[in-house]
Amino acid sequence: MKTEIVVIDENNIDISKIKKAAKIIKDGGVVAFPTETVYGLGANAFDEKAVKKIFIAKGRPQDNPLIVHIQNVCELEDLVYNIPEVAKKLMNKFFPGPITIILNKKDSIPDVTSAGLKTIGIRMPNNKVALTLIKEAGVPIAAPSANISGRPSPTDVERCIEDLDGRVDGILGGSCSEIGVESTIVDCTVHPPCVLRPGGITLEQLREIDSDIYMDKAIMQKPSKDLKPKAPGMKYRHYAPKAPVKIIEGNMEQTIAKINEMLQYYIDDKKKVGILACDETKNNYKDGIVVSLGSLNNMQEIASNLFETLRYLDDLDVDIILSESFEEKGIGVAIMNRLRKAAGFNIYRV
Ligand code: TXA
Ligand code: MG
Repeated sequence: MKTEIVVIDENNIDISKIKKAAKIIKDGGVVAFPTETVYGLGANAFDEKAVKKIFIAKGRPQDNPLIVHIQNVCELEDLVYNIPEVAKKLMNKFFPGPITIILNKKDSIPDVTSAGLKTIGIRMPNNKVALTLIKEAGVPIAAPSANISGRPSPTDVERCIEDLDGRVDGILGGSCSEIGVESTIVDCTVHPPCVLRPGGITLEQLREIDSDIYMDKAIMQKPSKDLKPKAPGMKYRHYAPKAPVKIIEGNMEQTIAKINEMLQYYIDDKKKVGILACDETKNNYKDGIVVSLGSLNNMQEIASNLFETLRYLDDLDVDIILSESFEEKGIGVAIMNRLRKAAGFNIYRV
């Protein structure tokens, strides 16, 4: 398949380029596009055949529902019913932004989009190209992250091209995704609302709207028979680079010492080792390919660099990645959720 690749300057948007991508969506095709969290791979949410193409292009399991992206709350009327007050408040406060609200879906949304569930995730991305694309397409856009299933989500257009060139109808490039981890998913069909995936909006921010909002216990732990995450996608191995990842958890001094010890072991074994560190620690490692995700004083920076760094270490063909851990506060919860999944819950506590 020939993929139409078009890149847009987000500060000087060429609307004709967006119209071209919108036409592909209207005609039943699939197009990757930028959002503030990660790039998405979109199709007309109402078009069963088009949505199926997303699953095929990504190699995505069919039981994993898609999020529907809108550009105006007026669109909700055609998509969902019985919107609770708390959902309205959350949308009021955080739309457009890195949050997905799960609501009861209307029959207008085909089963393939919701993977057979009676509910649907609704999101309004805070990205001008995305919002204009949805508007021009004239339909809500169903979109998962624009990666091949299982890989780290793409936060720039090159990574979309790497995964999807030849597999989709179009790739619409814009700027890098500034948040860098996916949206926070809040299930508002249950009371109190439950966070199914931590993301760009923190639990602290959500609790300012409703102090009863809580986090699904299963999301930070290794999925098991009795502890399954409520978001179907969270049970799969995900965000994973090719090389195995090991997380070292503990205080900074002990972590550095342990990583140096493990590093020596792997280097002696002739392995190429990648180290995920931060500005505050990066100079303490004696060998290996050390990459800083950013400063601990700016956890948002760390989030925005995480997926790209995992992919970068893949490019370098490292044999193993040793990662520091980050405080589970604010966006740190989302960072550690993605890291643990990338590591397949391979965690070493010091
Ligand atoms: O930031 C984001 O949310 C990005 C951008 C592109 O918008 N999208 C994204 O989509 O991360 P995806 O498909 O990669 O992840 C969606 C997650 C999956 O874990 C899926 O199982 C869950 O949301 N999900 C979707 N609809 C759901 C529903 N009705 N109930 C429970 N979980 C749902
Ligand atoms: Mg994804």
